[in-house]
Amino acid sequence: MFTLAATGSAVGLGNIWKFPYIAGEHGGGAFVLVYLACLALIGVPIMMAEILIGRRGRQSPINTLQMLGREEDAGSHWGMVGFIGVAAGVIIISFYSVIAGWALAYVARMASGMFSGVTAAGSQSIFSALISDPERLLAWHTIFMVMTTLVVARGVRSGLEQAVKVMMPVLFFLLLLLTAYALNIGEFERSFRFLFQPDFSALSRGGVLIAMGHAFFTLSLGVGAIMVYGSYLPSRVSIAKAALVVALMDTLVALLAGVTIFAIVFANGLPVAAGPGLIFQTLPIAFGQMPGGLFFGTLFFVLLVLAAWTSAISLVEPAVAWLVENRALLRVRAAVVVGVIAWLLGIATVMSFSDWSFRFRFAGEYRNTGVFDLLDILTSGIMLPLGGFSIALFAGWAMSRRSVRDELGGRDGLAFRLWYLAIRYVAPLAVSLVFLHTVGIFGVLG
Ligand code: PHE
Repeated sequence: MFTLAATGSAVGLGNIWKFPYIAGEHGGGAFVLVYLACLALIGVPIMMAEILIGRRGRQSPINTLQMLGREEDAGSHWGMVGFIGVAAGVIIISFYSVIAGWALAYVARMASGMFSGVTAAGSQSIFSALISDPERLLAWHTIFMVMTTLVVARGVRSGLEQAVKVMMPVLFFLLLLLTAYALNIGEFERSFRFLFQPDFSALSRGGVLIAMGHAFFTLSLGVGAIMVYGSYLPSRVSIAKAALVVALMDTLVALLAGVTIFAIVFANGLPVAAGPGLIFQTLPIAFGQMPGGLFFGTLFFVLLVLAAWTSAISLVEPAVAWLVENRALLRVRAAVVVGVIAWLLGIATVMSFSDWSFRFRFAGEYRNTGVFDLLDILTSGIMLPLGGFSIALFAGWAMSRRSVRDELGGRDGLAFRLWYLAIRYVAPLAVSLVFLHTVGIFGVLG
């Protein structure tokens, strides 16, 4: 089933780990508003485009785009768009796996009872001890990469769907449990205001790009992941409905995680802009205080690993599928090749969290950027929006109106017209405007 696989891909570290920490770093409300607007106006229409392209092509993303480009007389160079996606997927999995490794490490730490009754300072120091230990990080990164490669090597689609079916309800239950805890500690309202009361003076120029980039990241767009899964969708199923369901679940998980985490942040006097360690420093405090926290906390990090796992699989699948189709590699070999490349690349991220003092020097907001942040900006800030932009152009301009309409149910009703407007004009323009805004063109002109 497409919806299960796509939800497994979309819901992951992006929702529970990344969304709260970037919302915290970029001032909360206004950032969240821009993010939600990007999801609705750019994300959902592009997701529908990826699904319809995937379903029509039924091959790996690179070959699908090449073939459809030829079929529509638009040229096979559209395959390049698939290449950007495949490269982005491999770069993302390299650091994604390191963070999933933190979650694995936290399963062990939670289960050991280390966090019972922990204070904010205690939780912070347990986290710093972990990330400043490169050998340990490397070991967990290796374990996660092996887990991912194994599943992709076996190509088990039904196992993936079964796992998502069990995982999602349990994840929702645990998030609701955390939300109940957050409601109890008295800072829920402040957290709610922080996330939903927009203060545009707190949103920087770079923040707008990061909000848009995260809309792509969290919905798994621009990589070809959704395109691969789109080829599973039976031809009579509604693409619009499938995309909406996935986007709604994804957003719900992110907002629930966010509102809970900031309640804990405020109740414990922690900094909102703690960065990538935010959930690892806050959630253990909650589990350390609630009854049954040892069990629920361990279960929570197990689920976080599972959610990351089902996303990781979809990050490498476009590359593996392409190697299998074009190089006639056995699936096992293709998976190992991609897995090893990602694992090697991941070592740079491991180092960037510890004592590797190498820093890139950029101007303004980006001075002092480490390797992890650099890879994150390169993918979420540049490659994914560029990939999504190209997909919009492909579906909106290169493919004929008739082909896309046939895939979307054949009717020329209001819903189709709105989508077509979004994919032809709104999404490409919005992505371009955010890019121009970020490089400061408007400031120069004004
Ligand atoms: N959407 C996933 C998450 O939020 C990450 C991802 C990005 C997966 C791109 C596939 C493709 O964690």
